[in-house]
Amino acid sequence: MCGIVAAVAEREVSPILLEGLRRLEYRGYDSAGLAVLDADARLQRHRAVGKVEALATAQSRQPIYGSLGIAHTRWATHGAPTEANAHPHMASDDVAIVHNGIIENHEALRGELTAAGYPFASETDTEVVVVAIHDRLAAGDDLLSAVKAVTARLEGAFALGVISRHEPGRLIAARRGSPLVVGIGIGEHFIASDVAALLPVTRDFVYLEEGDIADIRRDRLQILDAQGGAVERPVKTSSLTADAAERGGYRHFMAKEIHEQSRAVAETLEGRISDGHVLPQALGPQAAELLGAARRVQIVACGTSYHAGLVARYWFESIAGLPCEVEVASEYRYRPHVVPPDTLFLTLSQSGETADTLAALREAKGLGYKATLAICNVPESSLVRESDLVMMTRAGPEIGVASTKAFTTQLTALLLTVLAAARSKGLAGSEEATLVGALRQLPRQIDAVVGLEPRIEGLAEQFVDKHHSLFLGRGSQYPIAMEGALKLKEISYIHAEAYPAGELKHGPLALVDADMPVITVAPNDDLVEKLKSNLQEVQARGGRLLVFADEASAPAATADCQVMTLPAVHEVTAPLLYTIPLQLLAYHVAVLKGTDVDQPRNLAKSVTVE
Ligand code: G6P
Repeated sequence: MCGIVAAVAEREVSPILLEGLRRLEYRGYDSAGLAVLDADARLQRHRAVGKVEALATAQSRQPIYGSLGIAHTRWATHGAPTEANAHPHMASDDVAIVHNGIIENHEALRGELTAAGYPFASETDTEVVVVAIHDRLAAGDDLLSAVKAVTARLEGAFALGVISRHEPGRLIAARRGSPLVVGIGIGEHFIASDVAALLPVTRDFVYLEEGDIADIRRDRLQILDAQGGAVERPVKTSSLTADAAERGGYRHFMAKEIHEQSRAVAETLEGRISDGHVLPQALGPQAAELLGAARRVQIVACGTSYHAGLVARYWFESIAGLPCEVEVASEYRYRPHVVPPDTLFLTLSQSGETADTLAALREAKGLGYKATLAICNVPESSLVRESDLVMMTRAGPEIGVASTKAFTTQLTALLLTVLAAARSKGLAGSEEATLVGALRQLPRQIDAVVGLEPRIEGLAEQFVDKHHSLFLGRGSQYPIAMEGALKLKEISYIHAEAYPAGELKHGPLALVDADMPVITVAPNDDLVEKLKSNLQEVQARGGRLLVFADEASAPAATADCQVMTLPAVHEVTAPLLYTIPLQLLAYHVAVLKGTDVDQPRNLAKSVTVE
């Protein structure tokens, strides 16, 4: 999704802007641009379709220099990814802007401004903002007043960075609905969509709140809140280092992140379990009371996080005896709800900035839920700040668009939450101790499964020429089949669908032939015999199976049924472990196909627009 970087300094800012954009590449984008104010007070701009490297090439061929600048990676929403639609947008060489979000009333504003005689050079919603600001400047406003007046008229979501040639040394930032941080340097300031962009230049950040407008100069920062009053926002020091978001020795971030999972899961458990039980304080001081009082759970999330929620439903109901509903946020937010008393509202999000999940949380706040709980990977995110209870996953920065370690740490945090809630619902101490023991074994088990990578890489070759695939699971493994299918389609562009295996006979069996691989997750659980019968249905129709199972559950390997054996694992933690081979399979198929593994086409990491 769009990324913003901007700087006001004494030194040359173009290299800072380009490095910041490179660090935001993971968010997903299709064009990039930067504008700087040069020593002669002229706004100079480069824009390029495609990768940030194309922009860097334009900059090296014809360098533009200055100590005030804004830059952007664009993920197209209004208008195709062309140079004319790329940001920064400018009006009359006077003012330049970068924008993340969507301006919903852009057509009405464009109509007004066109009628007033202003020309437009792009198809974007953003351009109306810069033209409207220019209009205010022409009427005598200074840059801050102009941004205030224009943002007051905007409907939708935005994070903005604005500079003008009439006010060298001044950068205005505004935030409503899209994330934006201010980086504090020594005698210099920066803004960015994400702290990762600025880690080479600072680790001190101010997180703008909803409705804030920041008036930023090299040596001064003034923030106005949504009501227009001056406010102080705390400066927070990030614990991330500049190399936290680098690939290390790996070919792709996704490979690095798959390999980091045992450590990330271990860190997510750290300090939250003791003597065979979960410490509910891990979710905050009110956690024991609120979880104890909860009688139902509503989970809301998107994408991979939604799949984690689907697994958690099995756990909430079977371990804690709590009825649990799970819904994708984009649906939840737009329908009426009947909220039963004492329902806990639980959001799951790696980024904590997904527009639909955030909007669902805000919607839920007026609906009478007992409390809101966020399970999230980014401590300063909007979701964390706006929830009553928080359980942080400790995955570290996840850069690959296809989520891996964020998912397994979400499952870890969810199981901790379920156990904390189950205590007051009568879960026996011995059962809790068994499950805590199963959690403790996970890091070692994950390493063992990651160790199967060379064999999974070998299997991947069979998929390279396939166009369709089917993933099967039953019970809590069905969401894992969904996650496996999502991984494969996201990064290899092979159509992949997941089905609960018992549903095969109601439709998908019609598709089965030797050309459509059927991948199955089959640990030794209560449903495995039923699952095996479903697999026979596939084999009887000439289908080719790839089954991940343990020794006790593995079907007989045959020419049409390949079996990969995983270590035995407790039934409750099995979903976590069975995710790993599916991630590795998708990764190696994508590598063999030569796709852009970390930034698959058309997708974004952090979906901050609706
Ligand atoms: C995008 C990403 C997915 C992610 C989803 C939800 O689609 O590409 O990997 O699962 O957003 O993101 P969140 O940050 O809310 O977990």
